Amino acid sequence: MAGNWKGIHFGTDYYPEHWPRERWETDAKLMQEMGIQVVRMAEFSWHKMEPVEGEFDFDWLEEAIALLGKYGIKTILGTPSAAPPAWLVNKYPEILPIDRQGRVRGFGGRHHDCQSNPTYRKYVATMVTAMAKRFAENPDVIGWQTDNEFGNSHGDLCTCDSCRSTFQKWLKKKYETVESLNAAWGNHFWSQEYNDFSEVFAPRITVTGENPSAMLDWKCFCSDLIVDFQQKQIDIIREYCPNHFITHNCMGFADKVNYFDLNRELDFACHDQYPGGFYAIMPHENNYDMAANLDITRGFKKQNFWIMEQQSGITGWEIMGRAPRPGQLSAWAGQSVAHGADAVVFFRWRTCTAGTEQYWHGILPHSGNPGRRYQELKDFIGKMKPHMEQFEGAMPKSEVAIVFSYRQEYAMQIQPQHPDLNYVGQIKKYYKELYKNNIPVDFVEDTEDFSGYKLVIAPLQYLMTPELEQKYFDYVAGGGHLLLTMRTGVKDANNICMSDRELPGRLGELCGIEILDYDCLRDVDVQVRMNESEETLLGAKWADIITSKGAKSVADYASEFYAGTPCITKNVYGDGKAYYVGTEPKEELMKRLLALITEEVGVKSLGWSDEEVELSVREKEGKKWLFAINFGLEEGCYQVPKEYKLILGSEAGVLKPFEIHLYVNE
Ligand code: GAL
Ligand code: ZN
Repeated sequence: MAGNWKGIHFGTDYYPEHWPRERWETDAKLMQEMGIQVVRMAEFSWHKMEPVEGEFDFDWLEEAIALLGKYGIKTILGTPSAAPPAWLVNKYPEILPIDRQGRVRGFGGRHHDCQSNPTYRKYVATMVTAMAKRFAENPDVIGWQTDNEFGNSHGDLCTCDSCRSTFQKWLKKKYETVESLNAAWGNHFWSQEYNDFSEVFAPRITVTGENPSAMLDWKCFCSDLIVDFQQKQIDIIREYCPNHFITHNCMGFADKVNYFDLNRELDFACHDQYPGGFYAIMPHENNYDMAANLDITRGFKKQNFWIMEQQSGITGWEIMGRAPRPGQLSAWAGQSVAHGADAVVFFRWRTCTAGTEQYWHGILPHSGNPGRRYQELKDFIGKMKPHMEQFEGAMPKSEVAIVFSYRQEYAMQIQPQHPDLNYVGQIKKYYKELYKNNIPVDFVEDTEDFSGYKLVIAPLQYLMTPELEQKYFDYVAGGGHLLLTMRTGVKDANNICMSDRELPGRLGELCGIEILDYDCLRDVDVQVRMNESEETLLGAKWADIITSKGAKSVADYASEFYAGTPCITKNVYGDGKAYYVGTEPKEELMKRLLALITEEVGVKSLGWSDEEVELSVREKEGKKWLFAINFGLEEGCYQVPKEYKLILGSEAGVLKPFEIHLYVNE
């Protein structure tokens, strides 16, 4: 781990090459006045840095870095592998990616590249080496961003010959013999056996159906390929720039690459936060979703993170979203800080006049004259920065963890079973209810140590291994509280249905249940009654028909042919308890269920608040900073424990729209 990024809290994504040089100093001055301490540059500027093969031109960049440096602004350099130039693509058309339909994707957007192609990798390595050598000793450069949003625009890429043979090698390493590959994928079905690894295809669209096991390996391979592609860049930068940090801008729950893996060799994780999304109509309604993005980013390395792109205006390419209202950009940026961002870099400095993103607005409008957004963010930085200096490194602490697994997600994408069942969606249903109650949540990988958490929620543990099973047993036996759901223990690690015992496999012992039958709730909700209540609540999408083998029923079904049988159960095991939820609880049922569990388990809320008000805490050496942020369009109220003293804001307990209050404990 390298580099020093302490003391840096605000930045902006800057593209000096889009503007005349005479303007640069004005930009630097305006940035300095606003409190900007760092810029990210060059992540799409390959052609500007190598206009002709082998002829590097870094002078313009060095000049921009030095000029910004004069104003106290440091630089993070992006490696430009997200935008290979036309000369390269023309010379080697085979670096263009081929999608699953077999179509070559052309030059003209970005990320028109094949990440396995050896020629492309060679050119990337040459570029990164040249950049790293040139800027290693530059006093104003502090770190690097690899590429840009790996996986973005790579959705159904790449199935070219190079990717095919790389996939074959990956499979050979994993399975060693073609017989074990055939067994793992169940290739006896529809005569899909291979006689040799060289026969394996990269999965183009088929006439009908796909092999779920092959598709799972393909998705994992694509993720590993990106991790490997990045690693080559990391190796070069570490060699030449041992004093610089390296990071990458991730995208929350985006699925193309396993972000736990991608972040392992990076110094800290970054996320790009766009509450307005891709042109959202009512961007103030997804605060829980935005919070989840931040919490998962913190989970990638279990440490504080940066926002490398924070929305700073209207989002838009061909069409546009709503204008962020006065105060809204600050509330969003404040939320990032509240969840553990030690620095927030705003995207972008000035709205560009050309290209795809002319309407993805920056801090400055097209004219370059500072306006409403500049003023607002300047005020925000002025207020927030002194506090950020104090709580730098302080982490949110959670008693609840939600397990997140890319493998589970991939398997559920391949076979959602119910058309609307979705792994991330399911996780967010649990998250949202906790969020509404101001209960902080960590997202954890299933290989992590759960023992520090009072409650672990593990939805859709669809693929099961003996090791993971054992982990859940040990956690509960040792006093943990575990919530498992429907579709747990259905398949083995290869995405093949397990047949050695009834669902949910050995975990049935932990939960004190057995599932002999189930119902996929197509176009119907099932009625559910919590024990000792006459009120009818609803479950959706799925109903496990549960036989108790010792578990107590928490709620029974109240409709369908299984009315009167358990829908939700709990079982004491060792020093802990395992809850099993056989359906997707709709909002009211989710509310009752989590109220019951968090109370039984003794999980604490940070305080009471109106629905649109969020409470969150960052903690360091016994000192706590509590944030109350109102995302609503109306005044919002909240109550926090007496130990907290208001240090930012005027009227404790009452927030104007988009206002942020900050407290410390005494
Ligand atoms: C991000 C990306 C930026 C820019 C922005 C707006 O996903 O990293 O380069 O494209 O979105 O579209
Ligand atoms: Zn390829």
